[in-house]
Amino acid sequence: MTDRYAVIGNPISHSKSPLIHAAFARQTHQAMQYDALLSPLDGFQAITRHFQEHGGKGLNVTVPFKLEAHQLATRLTDRAANAQAVNTLKFEQEEILGDNTDGAGLVRDIECNLGVPLINKRILLMGAGGAARGVILPILLQQPLLLTITNRTPEKARALKQQFSPHGDLMASDYGMLRDRQFDIIINATSASLNDALPELFPGLFERTMLVYDMMYGSELTRFLRYAQQHGAPRLADGLGMLVEQAAESFFVWRGIRPETQPVIAMLKSSN
Ligand code: ATR
Repeated sequence: MTDRYAVIGNPISHSKSPLIHAAFARQTHQAMQYDALLSPLDGFQAITRHFQEHGGKGLNVTVPFKLEAHQLATRLTDRAANAQAVNTLKFEQEEILGDNTDGAGLVRDIECNLGVPLINKRILLMGAGGAARGVILPILLQQPLLLTITNRTPEKARALKQQFSPHGDLMASDYGMLRDRQFDIIINATSASLNDALPELFPGLFERTMLVYDMMYGSELTRFLRYAQQHGAPRLADGLGMLVEQAAESFFVWRGIRPETQPVIAMLKSSN
């Protein structure tokens, strides 16, 4: 029987994961099937168990089930435990391994695809929700000079600072307090682009950056990246590369093979 994988979420029809994993499977000659599973909001556990019992080897988990997947896993990788969220499940004999490949995907995209090493950089991470939490440890492992977390609700940024400060130099800040600071890399991990609102970031901050990165992506520049561009950001990137890199990392967790990501990123860009 062909090994089965899928992405599970709600909604799911927009997901590019089936396309990405089909491309990886072709490229690496892996006999596997990868589908999209729409789960009712209260049906995640039941659908997952059913999938596992019918030959499922692994799942990518997306909104809104990453927390439930974290609870369902019987063993967690360090990065998933720290993220308190799981985007990759691997079904083993007795166990369900929960991993989180989002942060590794972001780091690989910035360092390998965009050629910007994080070591010794001053990094600003905007947002303190699930998306931000998932990338903090992988960023800190690259030894930036300082990682500043800023959030509309500052207490949440402070809580993340407390949780992760054993792993590196971290600071929590309000948006208003960033005026006179300088950053090499600014990463948007808020969901602001989704509702077309913008975090209140001092526009002068963008001019002095090397890279402004939005973890969101779309067929056009996100609203946040357009704003950064209008205010002098010399280099912009959206989260399409991160999407492909986190998928490649999941593929590696499941199959032990690291697919080439560049052709898949290029394919997605040209189909946009
Ligand atoms: P996700 O899993 O995508 O991170 P989340 O956990 O709901 O979703 O977190 C959303 C993040 O985007 C939060 O940091 C949120 O800020 P608050 O903690 O203050 O709510 C941030 N966010 C959403 N809309 C925003 C906006 N218009 N301006 C600034 N921050 C915003």
